[in-house]
Formats: sequence, structure tokens, C-alpha cells
Amino acid sequence: MTDGAMMFKQRQRATWSAGKWDRMAELIVPVGQAVLAAADLEPGMVILDVGTGSGSNISIPAAQMGAKVTGSDLTPELFDDARRRAVEAGGEVDWVEADAEALPFPDNAFDRVFSTFGHMFAPRHAVAASEMARVCRPDGQITTSTWAPEGSTGTMFKTLAKYLPPPPEGVESPLAWGIEDHAREIYEPLGLELTFSHDTNYVEFPSASEQMAFMSENFGPLVMAKAALGDRWPELEADLMAMTEEWNAATDGSVRFPQQYLITVARFKYPHGQVRPRRHARSIAPAGYPCATDEPHPCRRRGPAGMAAAKHHYWSMVQ
Ligand SMILES: C[S@@+](CC[C@H](N)C(=O)[O-])C[C@H]1O[C@@H](n2cnc3c(N)ncnc32)[C@H](O)[C@@H]1O
Repeated sequence: MTDGAMMFKQRQRATWSAGKWDRMAELIVPVGQAVLAAADLEPGMVILDVGTGSGSNISIPAAQMGAKVTGSDLTPELFDDARRRAVEAGGEVDWVEADAEALPFPDNAFDRVFSTFGHMFAPRHAVAASEMARVCRPDGQITTSTWAPEGSTGTMFKTLAKYLPPPPEGVESPLAWGIEDHAREIYEPLGLELTFSHDTNYVEFPSASEQMAFMSENFGPLVMAKAALGDRWPELEADLMAMTEEWNAATDGSVRFPQQYLITVARFKYPHGQVRPRRHARSIAPAGYPCATDEPHPCRRRGPAGMAAAKHHYWSMVQ
């Protein structure tokens, strides 16, 4: 990992533990419901929520639905709220500190892998995707939500970026995950095929100034920007208020703020019984999923030679 990516992750942790993510998460509960609905979740399934935050959008509702849930996040400071919420909701979740780019779980461990606006903040998209694919069972699926770059939240992040130093080298834009072609570029080499749906979440406040006050107190990126900008903060605040007015769907002085997002469902496209390609050298042909040809096949070998053989074998079968 480059120093830039490492620095970015340290900053991410500081950012999301600033403010009060748990309050922010309440605004996007309907997104969690839409993502769960897109995932064909069944009771008893073993699931992973990557970048779970305080758990209220995927981990806890999935536990309430009878799934066996692991909620993982780079920012364990958020787990106090997560634990409290899980107890209140009566859902059992295993909370694990974990970077999306180095998930501390075995291959093929989960029936469903989720992320609502979490994995998108890992700086190296292909690395995070390959980790999520590695821990997902071959017959499982990865379901995520990401902000649309041209939507209101995308615009908010871009406005914010104008006031802050550029991200370090080697850090990909989180908003790229909201572009279908980018998601295809990242996932397809892993043998995944994708389906997409676009939706809008609405956030309501009595007025634009109340929305601004709520956001600058609870939303980590704004809390950090306010602290860093000092005298320039009112300028950013005015820009964000103007942006809110532009997007506002209410006409009575209140705010109904549309947040456009993309749901991506990724499933392995190899036919049952054939090997799936891996970017990781760790598991090439998982037990129970032997390749369709004679044994022993080179793609059952571990390490880079096995990986290359597996990829070659896979592509020769599907093309
Ligand atoms: C916008 S919050 C979303 C939280 C949660 N999924 C939700 O819907 O409420 C982004 C989350 O991603 C986490 N995150 C950022 N970078 C990460 C990484 N590299 N690995 C895992 N989690 C990360 C943050 O700590 C934060 O909890």
C-alpha cells in the first residue's frame, strides 16, 4: 500500500469518528431497506456488512431478519453506538474492526456481502472489490449502495473537495463507484456480473438552516472541514446552503432533499462446477467447486501460477 493510501485511511477513521454518524445513519434507513430487499436475504444466511458504521442500515435489520451477521468497519469508535442499537433492537451482531482492503475473514465465508456507502471510501477500488469477492461464497452475492456522482450528495462531496487539500496520490474517488461502467470495470475481471438499480432517498428538515446545523454537527466530513477551515467555513456553508436550495424539492420553506444513489448487485457468472477467477492467489478453486476438467488441474494450485492458470482456464470456458 502506498503512503498516500495509508494516510487516507487514517484520515477516514478520524473523519467518521468525528461528529455523530449514528444520527446521520437515521437519514438513510430506507436505503438499507432497499439494499436488503435487492439481496434475496433469507433467515440463517451468514452475512458481512463492510463499513457498517453504527450498524443501523444493514447489520441490525439483517440480524432481526434471522441472518448471522458480522458488521465490520475501519472505525471501531462507531461500535459503541452499534452495540447499543443492537441491544435495543434485539439483534445479535459480531462487530469486527476491519479494513475493506484486508478483510480478516476466510475465503467463501459469507452468503451475502453488503456495503451501504462504506466500501466506496476504501482508496483502492479493485483491492476492496477483490476482498469482498474473496469472502463471498461462489453462489453468493455482493450488494452495495453508492452515491451518484451527479446527484446531490455527489455534488456536496465535490463542493467540499474545493475547500480541502486534494486526496493523496493513489486514492481513487469514492464517487466513481456510483458510475455503472466503473463498477463493471472493477468487478467483471473478478468473474462477477452486475445488475443495477437507481433510486432516490429523501431527507427532510424544517428549513435549510436547520439542515445545515444538523449536518455540521453530525456529519464527520463537515465537522472536520469546519475545524480545518476556520475563517473560510462561512464561505463553504453558504455554498452548501445554495446547493441545498437548488436541489430542494419542497416549496413551502422546508427542505426535502433528494439523494440519488445506485444499488449494485454482483453475482459470480461462472457456471456451477467451474472454477471462478480470482485476483487473489489465496483460493483458486474452492473445495466443493472443482474445475470441470481432469484432476489435478493447474488451477487448483495455490500462488500466482495457480491464479494465472485459473484465470486462463475460466476465460477459455466462458468466451
Ligand atoms: C458513510 S458511512 C456508512 C456507514 C454505514 N454503512 C451506514 O449505512 O450507516 C462510511 C463508513 O465507511 C467506513 N469506512 C471508510 N473507509 C473504510 C475502509 N477502508 N474499510 C472499511 N470501512 C471503511 C467508515 O468508517 C464509515 O463507518
